[in-house]
Amino acid sequence: MKKFSKILVVFLMVVTSVLSFAKEKLYVGTNAEFPPFEYLEKGEFVGFDMDLIKAVGNKIGMEVVIKDMSFDGLIPALEANKVDIVIAGMTSSDERKMAVNFSTPYYTANQVIILNEDNNNIKSFDDLQGKLVGVMLGFTGDVVVSEMSDVKTKKYNASYASIMELQNKKIDAVVLDSETALNYIKNNKGIKLAEGKGELEEYAIAISKKNTELLEKINLAIKELKEDGTYDTLLKKYM
Ligand code: ARG
Repeated sequence: MKKFSKILVVFLMVVTSVLSFAKEKLYVGTNAEFPPFEYLEKGEFVGFDMDLIKAVGNKIGMEVVIKDMSFDGLIPALEANKVDIVIAGMTSSDERKMAVNFSTPYYTANQVIILNEDNNNIKSFDDLQGKLVGVMLGFTGDVVVSEMSDVKTKKYNASYASIMELQNKKIDAVVLDSETALNYIKNNKGIKLAEGKGELEEYAIAISKKNTELLEKINLAIKELKEDGTYDTLLKKYM
């Protein structure tokens, strides 16, 4: 072989091996303001969902790339093909099912009411009548409370902002998902949960209706992660 063709052969070998190592990217939409599922810590995306989706990525041989955005922008981003999937503690509600597909559920939660510790008037969702209630724009809690008659809502983009306003007595209560609410109560003084709880909701990964192949792969990966103990390890780590 001539020297030039030898160099060419070596070059091609290097190119093909590099290509086979470069994993296909999985663009993942989230809203990293929902501890313990997704939040920022020292500039890194951390939380139950973030670890779960990395483990899913490993199973299906794809490199996870997180794209952080506002919660109400997530489904539009999926529909516009800006992300491949969404993992954001997202409830697989019937309304959303009209727009996107959901994986098998990976977590069950419910809506709860957060109050100032000295508030003993609000026990259940019915007691929210006549009150000013903080909700997060586009969350299922927003939908539930906005449908109730005679309840005023104040809408926030991020849940920590609503907790601060509650502590400052600017609003009477906050309606939020149970696990995130518990997380805030653990880390903030002077707030508590009301007794009454809302209906159960299931969190699942959202995928475009066009991408059924990816949906099947993800469901299989979730099943395997539940079987091999990874899922339980993550629950222990974050809940
Ligand atoms: N489970 C609620 C919903 O689907 C709230 C989810 C909020 N998630 C977030 N990453 N901000 O509407």
